[in-house]
Amino acid sequence: MTPEEFRAQAHRLVDWMADYMAEVERFPVRAQTRPGEIASALPQAPPEAGERMETVFADFERIVLPGMTHWQHPRFFAYFPANSSPPSVLAEMLTAALGAQCMLWQTSPAATEMETRMLEWLGQAIGLPAGFSGVIQDSASSAILCALLTARERATGGAANEQGLAGAGVAPVVYTSDQAHSATEKGAKIAGYGRNHVRLIETGGDFAMKPDALDAAIRADRAAGLRPACIVASMGTTGVGAVDRLDGIGAVARAHDVFFHVDAAWAGSALICEEHRWMLRGVETADSLVFNPHKWLLTNFDCSAHFVRDPDALVRTLSILPAYLQSREGGSVIDYRDWSVPLGRRFRALKLWFVLRSYGLAGLRELVRRHIALAAWLEGEIAADPDFELVAPRSLALLNFRYAPAGADALDELNERLLHALNDEGRIYLTQNIVRGNYAIRISIGQTSTERIHVEQAWEAVKTAAARL
Ligand SMILES: Cc1ncc(COP(=O)(O)O)c(C=O)c1O
Repeated sequence: MTPEEFRAQAHRLVDWMADYMAEVERFPVRAQTRPGEIASALPQAPPEAGERMETVFADFERIVLPGMTHWQHPRFFAYFPANSSPPSVLAEMLTAALGAQCMLWQTSPAATEMETRMLEWLGQAIGLPAGFSGVIQDSASSAILCALLTARERATGGAANEQGLAGAGVAPVVYTSDQAHSATEKGAKIAGYGRNHVRLIETGGDFAMKPDALDAAIRADRAAGLRPACIVASMGTTGVGAVDRLDGIGAVARAHDVFFHVDAAWAGSALICEEHRWMLRGVETADSLVFNPHKWLLTNFDCSAHFVRDPDALVRTLSILPAYLQSREGGSVIDYRDWSVPLGRRFRALKLWFVLRSYGLAGLRELVRRHIALAAWLEGEIAADPDFELVAPRSLALLNFRYAPAGADALDELNERLLHALNDEGRIYLTQNIVRGNYAIRISIGQTSTERIHVEQAWEAVKTAAARL
């Protein structure tokens, strides 16, 4: 494709993108396809001869679009949001056009220095105290893995990297709550801790990790000859949005000299609003923290802001320097390849720059506050309806509820049927949860264009579908 052909095609596609953003509501939120349907529409083998872009694009509309779940739909209430915005998409187009690998300062000085500055901006934006350095990871899971690896090296004095855990003769243990995201368990498998060395610490009535239970578990492991290595606290669990108290957990981490990571993947974005900064109390005791602007700060996937107190420890853990990666500036500049697992890195800071400058912190605060106010409105509706009940307190813009009409039994099955009926209808998309053993319907508000009308429509859809069961 020549640059001139590209120009023509790109104009068409940008028009399509703008229309999509404006009209995404006309699609069913969750893809209504059956497994295998899309695959069967794709040829078994690649084309021998190149095809015209018009043909490829027509197939995109015909085959791909019907098989998409529309995450940018204003009635997307499933999982957590992965919201995006026009400035972010514009920056991504530039990133793709530049096509730079930003692994070393030398391979892209602007990307490196922009990343450092953007993470400084974000740290200020969420009220993080001084003393943290930032890096952009592809996901919160990667940041957790980095924390687990750094903690493993700290616990073994660097021996695990050299000799493996067997050679180091240490069995490190990781602690997180029984509500925490599975990314910690997955990271523990990858980092060699082993699943049996993941302790899921008991939570209280507020679903937050109990510091005294954490303390007891660490003592028991020490007594058994194991090496407590890492604590992962949650700021906003995936299920109910529980917030572990960083001060209480940090005190235990300090007392036992254990690495302390904070997983704020979703809720961290709310820290841009002063009124939610209480969640940060005690963060000065943390070794690292991650939150995802790609969830709730209008920056399209992928963009996880990972802050570390001791970047040298992270670099020591991950650094490896073959001849072909050496550069004249090495040591005097940041080479972000040493801060994350993959070598290759995209220019992700550019979209943060576009988003932060386009909306300003005030614009982003307004967005987060709007979503939280919508969730608070819905909370009131659910609480006031005798046929429904909240099964956990609202956390920011996240609710868990169930249909529980008087006299009904088998509520788990009833609510599962309700959820499937709603998602099959396609007007809204919600996901399920199990809260203290009970099936619950989870509604998470956070898409870019979600307004009061969409939440009202969702509540109407829930009540109508329930009445039909
Ligand atoms: C609390 C929490 N931690 C970690 C993750 C994993 O995030 P990522 O997809 O960025 O790895 C999620 C995903 O929703 C999450 O909710």
